[in-house]
Amino acid sequence: MRPLHEMLESSSVLLFIVFILLFVLLVFVVLIRKNGTAALIWNEIIREKITNFIMNQTKEQRILNFVLQNAVRGDPCSVLDTIDKYCSQKEWAMNVGDEKGLILDKTVEEVNPSVALELGTYCGYSAVRIARLLKAGAYLLTVEFNPEFAAIAKQMIEFAGVQDKVKLLEGPSEEIIPQLKKKYEVDTLDFVFLDHWKDRYTPDTILLQECNLLRKGSVLLADNIIFPGAPEFLNYIRNNPHFQCTNYPSHLEYMKVGDAMEKAVFLG
Ligand SMILES: C[S@@+](CC[C@H](N)C(=O)[O-])C[C@H]1O[C@@H](n2cnc3c(N)ncnc32)[C@H](O)[C@@H]1O
Repeated sequence: MRPLHEMLESSSVLLFIVFILLFVLLVFVVLIRKNGTAALIWNEIIREKITNFIMNQTKEQRILNFVLQNAVRGDPCSVLDTIDKYCSQKEWAMNVGDEKGLILDKTVEEVNPSVALELGTYCGYSAVRIARLLKAGAYLLTVEFNPEFAAIAKQMIEFAGVQDKVKLLEGPSEEIIPQLKKKYEVDTLDFVFLDHWKDRYTPDTILLQECNLLRKGSVLLADNIIFPGAPEFLNYIRNNPHFQCTNYPSHLEYMKVGDAMEKAVFLG
């Protein structure tokens, strides 16, 4: 039998270790709630990879399955609400989301585009969001270079019933944009939603101008200009006499982390 003072000593060491572990856990939880990078590391790297391994399925497949099981076929609003519910309550995902979605809706309604372009389709959330607001005869071209995401988006768009208004173009934006005029018979674009990788915002905006795809009054809307952030794009577009910019402060999708969208009207 160990003497009492030794037992007390070892139990207080144990208590101290438990206390430290709880403290580290608490700091991590606070960071996840307040800090976008910590939250993304937790959601996108740790939690998602573990769930994918256990379920032998990707997060995007889980989002689609949740929609197929819970949303109303042919009802775009029901599809959007169901994706928002899944991504706010179960697994975070990089859709534009419900809060910034309202800014997107308002811009699309103002522009009332005949031809719209989206760079970065992912699961098709924003494509459904834009397509449901398009007038008769108008259409959206949406560009995605990840074939797995493109396959999910195609099913999402069909389930929402907006497939006649959306054409999904598979490939990198830098290859698709120069083909828009000849291959896809686009004259000019009325509205462009930039929501692909942030380092492509500036070169693709330059490419759109070089390919004469913008007309006087064409509207660009860029997501995530604060988080993850697109400082180079902001510097380029705000100091460019050919664009008039407006900033819309908001939050990162499904989080309390600050984010914003930037609208840029092409002045010709
Ligand atoms: C933030 S997600 C798009 C979210 C989507 N707009 C929504 O709100 O539902 C970005 C997507 O852009 C795609 N992407 C990134 N860079 C791209 C590029 N250069 N060309 C085409 N797709 C790209 C990624 O694979 C990813 O699916």
